Amino acid sequence: MTPLQGIRACVFDAYGTVFDFASAAARCPDIPDDQRAALTTLWRDKQLQYTWLRSLQGRHADFWQVTGDALDFTLDSLGLARPALRAQLMGLYETLQAFPEVAETLRRLRAAGFRTAILSNGTPSMLDAAVRASGLQGLFDAVLSAEAVQVFKTDARVYEYALQQLGLEREQISFQSSNGWDAFAASDFGMRVVWCNRYGQRAERLPGKPDHVIPNLAELPPLLAPITP
Ligand code: LAC
Repeated sequence: MTPLQGIRACVFDAYGTVFDFASAAARCPDIPDDQRAALTTLWRDKQLQYTWLRSLQGRHADFWQVTGDALDFTLDSLGLARPALRAQLMGLYETLQAFPEVAETLRRLRAAGFRTAILSNGTPSMLDAAVRASGLQGLFDAVLSAEAVQVFKTDARVYEYALQQLGLEREQISFQSSNGWDAFAASDFGMRVVWCNRYGQRAERLPGKPDHVIPNLAELPPLLAPITP
C-alpha cells in the first residue's frame, strides 16, 4: 500500500459516507418492519436519480425538495403515502446519525494537520442540522454545498467549487465517498480518491479510478502520507 503524497485536505461526501441515511427509516416506528429496507433503498435510489436527471435537464431544485419528491414517489410505490409519515421521515432525515467511526477519524486527521470538509449535494441547512445532530460540530473546517453552484454531482462544477473554497489543487485533496459513482467522478476530475465502499458495491464502469478502497473511514488516516512543511 503506497500512501497518498501531498494531501492537505480530506473532503467527504455526506450522505452514506458521513451520515447513515438508513438511520431515518430505522428510527421510524410507523413503517412496517418488512418494508423498512425497501423504503430506504428506493428513497435513496430515487433521490440520486432525481439529482442526475435535474442536472441533465438544467432544472435544478435544491436537495431538500429532491429528497422530499423522492420520498413521495417511494411512499406512493409502497402504499404508505400518508402526510404524517412523510413529515416524520423528513424530520428524521434532518437528524441522521453519523457512522460510528466518523468522529474519531476526523479527530485523528485534524491532529495530523489535515483540513477536513464536507462536499455534498445537501443544502447548507440540511448539512448544518445533520452535523449538529450527530455531534460533529467543530470537526469540519468547511461544509460545502452544491447549492452554491446550483447543480449536483457529478457535474465538475461541484468538485471545482471545493478547490476554490479550500484554495487547493486537485491532487492536494483526498476525497472520500461511499458512492462509487461519486468516487469515480472525483477521480476523473483529478482529486485523489479513497472509495469508502461501505455497501460492498462493484466497481463502476465509468471514467476515473479510486486510488484506494476501504470498508469504513477508520482505515483512512494510514493511507495519507504525513504533511511535510
Ligand atoms: C451527497 C450525496 C450524494 O452527500 O451522498 O452529496
